[in-house]
Amino acid sequence: MRTESLIADHTVTISSSTCIGPDVSRISFRCPEIAGNAQPGNFVNIKISPQNQPLLRRPFSIHYIDGDRVDIMAKSVGCGTALLCGLTVGAELQVLGPLGNAFSFDDPHYRTALLVSGGIGTAPMRFLEKSIRAQGKNVRNIIGGRTRHDIRKEGLMDCLTATEDGSAGYKGTAIDLLRDRFDDLCRSGPVRIYACGPNPMLKALAEFCRNRNVPCEVSLESVMGCGIGICYGCTVEVRSLDNSGTSTILLCQEGPVLDAERLLF
Ligand SMILES: Cc1cc2nc3c(=O)[nH]c(=O)nc-3n(C[C@H](O)[C@H](O)[C@H](O)COP(=O)(O)OP(=O)(O)OC[C@H]3O[C@@H](n4cnc5c(N)ncnc54)[C@H](O)[C@@H]3O)c2cc1C
Ligand code: FES
Repeated sequence: MRTESLIADHTVTISSSTCIGPDVSRISFRCPEIAGNAQPGNFVNIKISPQNQPLLRRPFSIHYIDGDRVDIMAKSVGCGTALLCGLTVGAELQVLGPLGNAFSFDDPHYRTALLVSGGIGTAPMRFLEKSIRAQGKNVRNIIGGRTRHDIRKEGLMDCLTATEDGSAGYKGTAIDLLRDRFDDLCRSGPVRIYACGPNPMLKALAEFCRNRNVPCEVSLESVMGCGIGICYGCTVEVRSLDNSGTSTILLCQEGPVLDAERLLF
């Protein structure tokens, strides 16, 4: 398990920035300390500009690690992400990380991992897929989006896709597709599900997994300030661990990965 002391703030230089879809960029930088300590599911908190705006850092999942190179995938949704996606090679960033907990994929009691993602929620899946395959398990990706333009499967293998408008793959949501193909996907043995995406998708998935008694972990999002447990900006109400009621957690500390059983929404 990674220790607190391995979290540090790093000044890095963007080594590549590639537009990989409408408003989505893959951004790479070299950082041996983050690359050497990161686990799938971890995130980094980035000060995008040395100027005052945006003042606060923005959190991004670690998309992939290759040697000492760290990749993130960013979707432009506001001032910070627009600025980040517009940066070019040579620009500097302040990157705090690796932060948060990780997907627990070393459980011996499953044969196939189903990685269910929606929209930019696909970002942490490439690193997770690589780590699970290294353990000799099967991995299937189930990727959803509103249209084919929202489907991001760069670097992922064995992908089933679903779009709500039917412009690519199955017509429906990623969870409709999972429901439709689930018996097939279970043929080679027990499955575990790992997911990241919009809250309605995670809610539907949590219900599906509860009804079928399938273990499932989800990576959640919330607004974050510090990323290290100081600002209390990332509180989320979840089911308490002993299932006796609810508790409020700091997502940057106890998450972003949670057992789907703990979701209340
Ligand atoms: C652990 C974690 C991992 C994440 N990983 C990724 C990733 O890999 N790639 C990626 O593109 N994004 C990721 N996000 C979301 C990303 O951090 C936000 O989109 C970003 O902070 C928005 O900053 P902004 O300045 O562009 O938007 P702002 O100008 O601050 O806000 C623009 C709009 O986005 C909404 N928004 C702000 N923050 C979030 C958020 N965290 N989630 C949902 N909506 C938000 C605001 O309510 C507003 O409507 C992650 C978030 C978390 C908590
Ligand atoms: S982001 Fe500051 S406490 Fe979690």
